[in-house]
Amino acid sequence: MSQSTRPLIQYDPSGMFQPETGLSREDVNWLGPRLETARREVLDDLELWKRAAVPKRKQPLDAGFIDLPERLLDDYALHKEQSELGRIVDVADRMAHRCDSVVSLGIGGSYMGARALFEACCHPYHNEIDAERRHGRPRIYFQGNNVDNDATGALLDLLTSRTGHRWGIVVISKSGGTLETAVAFRVFLDALRRACGNDMREAAARIVPITGQEGRLRQLAQALGCEDVFPIPDGVGGRFSIFCVVGLLPAAIMGLDIFKLLEGAAMANERFCNAPYGENVVLDYVAVCHLMEARRGATTRVLSTWGEGLEAVGLWYDQLLAESLGKDGQGALPLTVVNTRDLHSRGQQHQEGRRDKLITNLIVEQVKRPAIAIQSSNLNQDRLNDLEGKTYPQILQAAIAGTNRAYNNDRRPTADLRLSRRDEVSLGQLFQMLMLATAVEGRLIGINPYGQPGVEAYKKHMNDFLRE
Ligand code: PA5
Repeated sequence: MSQSTRPLIQYDPSGMFQPETGLSREDVNWLGPRLETARREVLDDLELWKRAAVPKRKQPLDAGFIDLPERLLDDYALHKEQSELGRIVDVADRMAHRCDSVVSLGIGGSYMGARALFEACCHPYHNEIDAERRHGRPRIYFQGNNVDNDATGALLDLLTSRTGHRWGIVVISKSGGTLETAVAFRVFLDALRRACGNDMREAAARIVPITGQEGRLRQLAQALGCEDVFPIPDGVGGRFSIFCVVGLLPAAIMGLDIFKLLEGAAMANERFCNAPYGENVVLDYVAVCHLMEARRGATTRVLSTWGEGLEAVGLWYDQLLAESLGKDGQGALPLTVVNTRDLHSRGQQHQEGRRDKLITNLIVEQVKRPAIAIQSSNLNQDRLNDLEGKTYPQILQAAIAGTNRAYNNDRRPTADLRLSRRDEVSLGQLFQMLMLATAVEGRLIGINPYGQPGVEAYKKHMNDFLRE
């Protein structure tokens, strides 16, 4: 399929246009020139970053994520196996060959992207199905994203209690000094060493560190003699790193098509750079989010996902938005819900609670498996025979339409973000679109979307408590 005929993400804000609680076309038109300026600034940031002449007022400037998909794909086209993508695929295949299970250690931006890809694109029971149905890919576990004694102990137990079970580690930390990841690595490394009968060469062959050019993790990787160590590229911040080795290596180990992911991201870039306001998903999405917050007090942004596989995508976005724009007393509160599950918990508040929410539905149009239909039954006590033949996708569509109508009847506006499929191309577009939108909104409101100075405070105090 050529790029132009591939389905694109659709953003439909028509439910936003209503008096008093929603927006008017004039509001949206008024913002257009400002958004064009913000888009220009985001793209100029990329040029600034490339020239490495970043003025102080712009620092930190992690604009390197923007054209990363194209750079990686071009590099692959030129250098094939010798390129970064070639190496990623090679190392991923080797890890898959050497390991029955792989534990990915990392937190924040060094965790959430891979987790989102795993949940959105892999088989929902990837770790339960047999190796053949996993196409020979290892089971995938995530740790180091918390300090949970029992979860860590249980995973160690699981990995080490099966005789002959071969497992390995991907450890990801840009700074190389994040305590949660470092502690987890020490603990899992020790277990792996023992699982390898104290053969450190064997253990090191099953470890892939992904880290900055320098730092403690890099030094440790050298001391261990790991054959494959990946650097995290400059100018790519943690929460913007899903399309570098941080997200791509775990994705390739899972068996995902990382080329399609990057092609999807490149499609989002192309549209962002060239499509006019009104047909530009990034700009149109930012317009609604910003205006709803500024004009209607919608300081909570609900990403209302329709499908279980999208929850971690939402959590990835929660981090992106919160760490990028939650600065200087500003920044909307991101909140991910999974429907219809959360209609039975948060739904009440969204329907009748404070009018401080913008609800964006994230909808996937096609299912991956044959649609399951309601069968007729002799036992009709549940009164479902009149729905005979209705399928899960039809029920979900009714739930989406019904919920939108219920909110809109109470003048609670909603917008829809639609992906055609839950696959690499669509997800690639979505992630890139949301990263661009976050950068644009930051520039629009005068907040530097890069860096996260506020996260340092807890780290300092935690270390003080530990070392006093
Ligand atoms: O977005 C970010 O930069 C952060 O969320 C980091 O990814 C997170 O703090 C982990 O940092 P590191 O990769 O240095 O261990």
